[in-house]
Amino acid sequence: MRKKIVAGNWKMNLNLQEGVALATELKAALAEDKPNCDVVICTPFIHLAKVADIVAGTVIGLGAENCADKEKGAYTGEVSAAQVKSTGAQYVILGHSERRAYYGETASILKEKVNLALANGLKVIFCIGEVLEEREAGKQNEVVGAQLADSLFDLTEDQLSNIILAYEPVWAIGTGKTASAEQAEDMHAFIRGCIAGRFGDAAAENISILYGGSCKPGNAKEIFAKPDVDGGLIGGAALKCADFKGIIDAWK
Ligand code: 13P
Repeated sequence: MRKKIVAGNWKMNLNLQEGVALATELKAALAEDKPNCDVVICTPFIHLAKVADIVAGTVIGLGAENCADKEKGAYTGEVSAAQVKSTGAQYVILGHSERRAYYGETASILKEKVNLALANGLKVIFCIGEVLEEREAGKQNEVVGAQLADSLFDLTEDQLSNIILAYEPVWAIGTGKTASAEQAEDMHAFIRGCIAGRFGDAAAENISILYGGSCKPGNAKEIFAKPDVDGGLIGGAALKCADFKGIIDAWK
């Protein structure tokens, strides 16, 4: 049975004290009312070590939002996969559309990042998704299929077992405009088909595919009810404990 997961992506929000406060509040909320799914929070690098101490021994997993495409050395300002791992984090988000669009992350850069993350024992939450013009031109499957193939299809089946996919239509991120549950399901089923085609039915059956893009407590239940949607990658609504918990509770 593949895992149900609700993961938060804090993006470039919250100072250290605010992040510590949010993680502490979430830990208390989930200790009181146990989740029915895996829960992960992905934070800016500066929060990782402190938040790792807060969530140690709880149901909450921890991830970074990025890592470098180089192993180590003279790359001022970068943070390596090994450094992320050393904080106690277990996950890293790679391929987010904001990184692709604003920081020029190409498929080949992402391939390097994925390899380094996996080699350092991190699980990768790999994001894929089309922009509005691509959807309007009916090219969403072509775009997402290529994103999968270009960065992930050289992995082994064993490596793939440490990948979680997140379908995030770019037009739905931070816009308040979520994909309909049917649009999400259509794409998730297509993605699972692509994985089956390359890695086989068992791998496709086992991989978790999350939906991301304006997911809120009010729409999560309908989206998560679809057979190929295994949870969510949550931006804005992950910044308030009650909202994030409301989405986690959509699995109840
Ligand atoms: P929002 O939930 O704010 O739309 O962001 C989604 C996202 O990009 C998560 O990675």
